[in-house]
Amino acid sequence: MVKIFGVIGHPVAHSLSPVMHNAVFRSLKIDANYFSFDVGKNELQDGIKGAKALKFSGLNVTIPHKISVMKYLDIIDESAKIVNAVNTIKFDNKKTIGYNTDGIGAIKAIKKRTEIEGKKIFIFGAGGAARSIIFSALFNNAEISVYNRTEEKVDVINDEVMKKLNKRIKKVDLNNLMSELENCEIIINATSVGMFPDVNESIIDEKFMPEGKIVMDIVYNPIETKFLKYAKKKNCITIDGVDMLVYQGAESLKIWLDIEIKDDIIKIMKDAVIKELKK
Ligand code: ATR
Repeated sequence: MVKIFGVIGHPVAHSLSPVMHNAVFRSLKIDANYFSFDVGKNELQDGIKGAKALKFSGLNVTIPHKISVMKYLDIIDESAKIVNAVNTIKFDNKKTIGYNTDGIGAIKAIKKRTEIEGKKIFIFGAGGAARSIIFSALFNNAEISVYNRTEEKVDVINDEVMKKLNKRIKKVDLNNLMSELENCEIIINATSVGMFPDVNESIIDEKFMPEGKIVMDIVYNPIETKFLKYAKKKNCITIDGVDMLVYQGAESLKIWLDIEIKDDIIKIMKDAVIKELKK
């Protein structure tokens, strides 16, 4: 029987997940289809119930449901419990299990370029994506500094990091932003700043971008954000958001299909996403 997968979110029309996952299904000759489902906040519980009743195989969850969906699931995997957000649901023998693959997706994208262990990582943002990256990077024994526009959110994450991992993250404010950026080895924009249509925005001005770092953006539309353009000008190695998108998707596929996702499949996913973005 054909397996049904999808992404639920609001808005979700521009999601690249259908193109990316369907490319894998076609290439591996898996009898499956992946759709996007625009589900509002008030319809979320019915949406999950309906997907379960219709024997869906798996769902991705995106903005704004990553946290609120947790209360409608039967089991929360450790990967999601620790971050407090779900981006992947597996429907398994009538049970719904929530996972989080965002953090591991980001870590894999970075590890393609450099080791993480012992590195100093600077993260802009304290939302869902930033949280996932912070926890995964701490698991990989990185040192983390965080700046967020709403500074209190960094304190909240720090409390959770203390409780759950007995570690600390460094909260950065505007006074020590420059010196912290200079001090770190990897810089990540984990905010939505610079995303289409606001393509002329960057979380920092060009003059604040230090020389010679590894710089990553979680924004994938456009592929080369203003932030990454500044980084290139300053001789930094850049990692675009497409890699994280592809790797988190590959981790979801692994959970749903119980298969190893090899490099040739990663390439198929990446090509499908880039082709769509260039349209
Ligand atoms: P996601 O799940 O994608 O991380 P989110 O939880 O809404 O989405 O988080 C968005 C992040 O981008 C937050 O860190 C947010 O900063 P605030 O916590 O201060 O809201 C950040 N962000 C969004 N727009 C921003 C802007 N114009 N300037 C600075 N930070 C911004």
